[in-house]
Amino acid sequence: MQHLLKYLPSTDTALGEKKIAFVPTMGALHQGHISLVKEAKSLAEQVVMSIFVNPTQFESVEDLAKYPRTLKTDIQLAEAAGVDVLWTPDVSEIYPDKYKLIDAGELGRIYEGHTRAGHFDGVLTVVNRLFEIVKPDYAIFGEKDFQQLFLIREFSKRAHSGIEVISGRTIREDSGLAMSSRNVRLSPDETNSALVISRALEIGSKKQSYAEIKSSVLAELTTEIDFKLDYFAIVNPKSLLEVDQSHIGPVQLLLAGWVGSVRLIDNFAAVIEPEGRGN
Ligand code: PAJ
Repeated sequence: MQHLLKYLPSTDTALGEKKIAFVPTMGALHQGHISLVKEAKSLAEQVVMSIFVNPTQFESVEDLAKYPRTLKTDIQLAEAAGVDVLWTPDVSEIYPDKYKLIDAGELGRIYEGHTRAGHFDGVLTVVNRLFEIVKPDYAIFGEKDFQQLFLIREFSKRAHSGIEVISGRTIREDSGLAMSSRNVRLSPDETNSALVISRALEIGSKKQSYAEIKSSVLAELTTEIDFKLDYFAIVNPKSLLEVDQSHIGPVQLLLAGWVGSVRLIDNFAAVIEPEGRGN
């Protein structure tokens, strides 16, 4: 495996004509990232992973500084998972003097984008640069970041139609907690409090009406006083817009909040049945 290279995979002859599956990350790797690598390996002969803590998607310098950095173990994990090229670009490589800023639009300013102003502009801007440089055939993103996946998929259709965006399911701890690089910042007590997120979503995902989903999730969340809700939204997975009582069919339950100073997000799928409508 090649790593820590100032290396442009698309211009390297070693990659030749082989198809490339690309897994962009910000490092602090966990089994969620590794599951995306497994998916990538099933799609193409060459798996490229990037580790780049993207400054433009953080709202504050403090948040950027607090982001965990564990490059040594990342390299070992990536290698063991079968990553062929691990690419750790410098800021100047991704952001030369001139680069295109991508506007994530209205759907980039709701939910995560409402609380984290400019976040998705930063995400799409970096993904655009990464795609320009790596030129993959496939790019794999996790459902864990549902809104991010949605926006990247839509953006790629418009701007990188040759790249197929593939999604990977959310990998969880045995406790149900969605794996996240931010989890290492939780104390044992906080980790325990954070379990309310997946617990509430799981309860909601089993309900069949809008009203029951909403009330059961919100009720469960109140059982944990150390969890501070940011938003809970029941959305149409096809449009990302919030549904109302009249909706029938698949929905995605999006939830975000804080445990202590750590911001966590998660989501579950559910289905609103015709007989559940209006309840
Ligand atoms: P990062 O948070 O490192 O996540 C990299 C990829 O791993 C994303 O596609 C994310 O959805 C996925 N992922 C995270 N936790 C997961 C889990 N528990 N199960 C499955 N997949 C999971 O998301 C980013 O980085 C950045 O915004 C990035 C897209 C790299 C742009 O900077």
